[in-house]
This record gives sequence, structure tokens and C-alpha cells, in this order.
Amino acid sequence: MSPTVPLPSAEPENPLWQQEARRQFPIVIAHPELAYLDSAATSQKPRAVLEAVQTYLTTSNANAGRGTYPWANRTTELVESTRDRIKEFLHDPEPDRSGVHFTSGTTEGLRTVARDWLVPCLADGDEILVPYGDHRANLDPWIEARRLLAERGVQVRVQALPYQTGSGDYDHRALDRAVGPRTRFVAATHVHHVYGGDMNVHRIREAVGPDVAICLDAAQSIGHLPVHVDDPSLDVDFVVFSGHKAMALPGSGAIWARNARGPEFRPDGWQGTPNTTGIVSLKAALDWLDTVGPERVAHWTTLLATRLTDRLGRLGSYEVLGCQASLSADSTLAAAQRRRGIVTFRHHDIPSDDLGFILFSHGFMVRADNLCQAGADARDASVRVSLHVYNTVEEIDRLLSVLASLA
Ligand code: ALA
Repeated sequence: MSPTVPLPSAEPENPLWQQEARRQFPIVIAHPELAYLDSAATSQKPRAVLEAVQTYLTTSNANAGRGTYPWANRTTELVESTRDRIKEFLHDPEPDRSGVHFTSGTTEGLRTVARDWLVPCLADGDEILVPYGDHRANLDPWIEARRLLAERGVQVRVQALPYQTGSGDYDHRALDRAVGPRTRFVAATHVHHVYGGDMNVHRIREAVGPDVAICLDAAQSIGHLPVHVDDPSLDVDFVVFSGHKAMALPGSGAIWARNARGPEFRPDGWQGTPNTTGIVSLKAALDWLDTVGPERVAHWTTLLATRLTDRLGRLGSYEVLGCQASLSADSTLAAAQRRRGIVTFRHHDIPSDDLGFILFSHGFMVRADNLCQAGADARDASVRVSLHVYNTVEEIDRLLSVLASLA
């Protein structure tokens, strides 16, 4: 669970801090006629990130860990200090024990954990629990791990994490029954990329006990809400994320490994040239996000998502997917699922891909397809609105008025 941010029940206005944050995004400011509502796919980049990249490339671009001259030393220092910055951003309680490995993003990160850590850990008869209803990037690597193990004569049982009907949250009661003495590992998602719900990972830890490793797909939470691994409710072993969804450049992801359960995480093989520019951008992005405050970002995007979900639900022609129970802005249901800044819906009559085109003709950039959900195909298409700190109340209200005209 992420720390719960109390939400005011008053009608939101764009507060001054949010207006100032929005002004930091050149692409957003340059296009007031457009509304970028696809931040779950990738975020826009603040000026501080763009400037950090330009400064690096124009003052000290070199390879890392290989040269002895000042630009190379500076690049090495930037890469190493970004590892420390990631640990600090995550509130790592034991930074001397944990590790950070850079990747191109969440997909590569999850695959690396599966191949280089999980496969060597498992023995014949072990069980793992994986999410069959989340992003396919958080399913395929675990299925592949089973295949690799089977080739070596090691049979591992892959069990599906159970889901509640309707909300998209994991079914934590059914999970209690799914866990057995041979359960070794759980792959979970922090915030669902379709349903927008916080997946209440603390309840997975309660179900599996203290010894089972949990790998968290944090693609939709890093940069969107506080992700503090010193919080007992986020007692996970891996946090895997993409920099590009958290204000940094594409190709700048990371794996954080606690190194407290099982062997130390050490990716196999020779590590080539790191994505130095991406790593520079990631450090600048984390600095920027910490200045704005992940709590405020979470608060703001949840407020906008709540406004959209509440009003969309009243239009009649739309089905909002996923969690509904804790949508009220003044909800005090501590155990309920909190919707983050993602709202996914379908129109009862207009196919979702058509609706995506219609919305763009009005200036709204949304994602409209099957959203790479595991097991989904074109028939499962939906329209996803995903928010970040630069989105405004006006954008939501403009979107609602277009959706109302189609209702
Ligand atoms: N994983 C990204 C999304 O959900 C690309 O859109």
C-alpha cells in the first residue's frame, strides 16, 4: 500500500503549485488546444530534465566506467550517483545492502529479474504466483522462467493471482488459499495500468508471510505517487520501473533489489555501455519529482480521476472499468482500493478505437486499444485516460462535455 493521501471533498481548482508545475512542460504549454491524457503510456518531460540532458551532452558526454579523463569520470560519477538517487527516492532503509540495475524499462527489468534471479532460485516442485490480468510485461517473463526451468528438468507450478470480480483488485481472501508451503515468489503490480486501482500489495505480503519474495511492477506508480520501500506496507523485494513514465527519457528504467530474501541480485553477463543520457535524465526527473512532491502528484491525479469517473458514471452511455468503491473524494475506507490517475471506459455503442479518433478530433490524446493487458485482444479494446501533474480541471471538464455530447 502506498501512504494514503487525504483528499479534500471540495470542488478542485488548479492550485498555484499545480499551475507552476504545468508551466515546466514546454510541450504542454506550446499546445493549449490539445490535452495530453496518455501519461500511463509515457509522461511528458519537464524543462529541468530537458536542460539536464542538454547540459550533459554539451559539457561532459563520454562513456561510463571506462576512461580516465574528466568527461569519462564525470559520466561514471553521474551513473553511480543516480543509483544512490534511486535508493533515496525510494526511501531505501538499507542502501548498503540493496542494489540498482539500469534497464531500458519495466519490460526488460521484469525479464531480467525472471531470468537472472528467479530461475536460479527455484527448485523442483516450487510454486510462483503471477498476475494473468495485468500488463503482459508482468506475465510473459514468469511463464518463460517456467519454460527455461522445464528445459533443465525442474518443474515449477505457476499459479494465477486471483482477482476480485469487477474491481480489478487482487482477491486477497482467495490469495490466502492459493499460498502453500512451496510458494516462493509473487509477481505483483502496484497500480493497474487499465483499472487504475492501487493493488494493495500489503495484503499480498500478509497472505504470503515474511519469507516469500515479491517483485513489484511499479511502471504506473513511480513518479505518480510515493513509493517508499521503508514502509512496512511495501515490503517487496524488487521494484521495477520505467523512467519514461516518470518524466525521464525512454530507455532509462531500473530494477531496485532489496537483497534481503534469497541470493543477491546480480544480472548475468557483460553489461555494455549504459544509457548515460537516459540515466542523466532519470536523476533530473527524480530531483524534479521530489521538488514537486509525489504526495501532491498523487493527490492531484486522484482528484482529477475521481471527477472524471464520478461524472462519466452519470452520463449513462459509458461503462467505467475497474475499481469503483473508493472513488468518492472524501472516502475514508482505508482498506478500500484507491483509484489513481487512470480511468478506462467504454461507450455502449461506439467502438473504442473510433472513440479514440473522435476524441483526438477534439484535441484529446488518449489510448484506445487493448492496452497490452495479458489475455486481451482487439475485442477488449477500451479508452484510457491517464493523468499527470500537468493535467487540469478544465481539460477534464472539456473532455466530459465532449463525452456528454456522444452519450
Ligand atoms: N505500458 C504502457 C501502457 O500501459 C505502454 O500504455
